[in-house]
Amino acid sequence: MQKLTFSLKSIRLKPGHITAIKTVIHLVSLSFLALLIFRALSEQLGADPVQGLSQFTGKAALNTLFITLLISPIAKWWKQGALVKVRRVLGLYSFFWALLHLLVYVLLDLNLNWSLLASEIAKRPYLTIGAICWLILFALAITSTQGMQRRLGKRWQQLHYWVYLAVLLAPIHYYWSVKSNITEPALYLIGALILLSFRRKTFRRWLPRFFTQTSTET
Ligand code: HEM
Repeated sequence: MQKLTFSLKSIRLKPGHITAIKTVIHLVSLSFLALLIFRALSEQLGADPVQGLSQFTGKAALNTLFITLLISPIAKWWKQGALVKVRRVLGLYSFFWALLHLLVYVLLDLNLNWSLLASEIAKRPYLTIGAICWLILFALAITSTQGMQRRLGKRWQQLHYWVYLAVLLAPIHYYWSVKSNITEPALYLIGALILLSFRRKTFRRWLPRFFTQTSTET
């Protein structure tokens, strides 16, 4: 293991490697989408297919979000700075799954009743949390381009720090949505706290600035 870590540190990732990693990310994500379509067409989504679709897409969004947040610690650990270039595509896939998850709920659960969606989100705290998380992922996805990064300047980084709130809200939404067997969502919650603990230094720098900015704005 020590040897493997050492050899990974001695390799310098080149643009070709990053392209290869991105290709694998596309292939794996599209395979999961194909699996979902196959299960839906062959009626293998369980007794309640709508719930099956909702759970598959929700879990896919959460897992992809976790993998996105794992990239920076891995890049630091293996001294592979170029690896952070794959975060964007992973983040976009997380939003893609979250979009499908919301569409399943709105189209198949609520029959496109948008006012019912608004009242459900207001009435059920687990949906309120899910909606806040969804909006954060949406904001990050639409501002993920280089053009937006240039246009927003310093504010871009501050906006993208909100991913830390999203990674905490997603497992809370999951935890709150289940009626029994909380083991898995509890493990996700612990996973989110571990991922956030890797960012201790960032929080120490960013949180005091965030609070001073908010208090001067009010
Ligand atoms: C407006 C936004 C959202 C709505 C309306 C929504 C709706 C729902 C609903 C109705 C369920 C319960 C499914 C069931 O019957 O078991 C659920 C579960 C879940 N949602 Fe969401 N959700 C939203 C956002 C999100 C986001 C942004 C994520 C992840 C990033 C997410 C991840 C999950 C997960 C992991 C579950 C549990 C799946 C399981 O039980 O295996 N949701 N959501």
